[in-house]
Amino acid sequence: MTTLAWSDSLALQHPQMDATHEEFVALLASTEASLAGPEPALLASFEALVEHTVAHFDQEDRWMAATGFAPENCHAFQHQAVLGVMQECAKRAALADAPDFEPLRVAVGELAVWFPQHAQMMDAALAQHLEAVGFDPVSGQCREAIGADGEAISGCGGGSCG
Ligand SMILES: [Fe+2]
Ligand SMILES: [Fe+2]
Repeated sequence: MTTLAWSDSLALQHPQMDATHEEFVALLASTEASLAGPEPALLASFEALVEHTVAHFDQEDRWMAATGFAPENCHAFQHQAVLGVMQECAKRAALADAPDFEPLRVAVGELAVWFPQHAQMMDAALAQHLEAVGFDPVSGQCREAIGADGEAISGCGGGSCG
């Protein structure tokens, strides 16, 4: 399994987003390192990753909502889908009578493949959009007027988005 490590190629020049992504990569790496160890420690590590991901996705979803994206835009939709799978994997591994770690083990490897693609596509497009509208994550205010034409953004702005 390839370990995903933080590198400049993952940085999107958005300090707050990059800090969150670096934490995500570190938590994923420590979960991956726990794959060979006892299952309770593996579950605890994965649950910490899930908890961090809730806040990570929520932060980006809030930024999108504040800068003119429709609630059902495809970036937020992908967040929901990925988080849903992660939560299901944690739930199955935490079953008291018959814990099933197989989905969690598979998810750890898949997240390491998924994350760089998501960051370089959807998160990069969001970072660019936030920069273009002059969004300040601290105040939640934009330098440029948002949605002046009344049109909510339903795509993610990424290259894969039609
Ligand atoms: Fe992200
Ligand atoms: Fe994202």
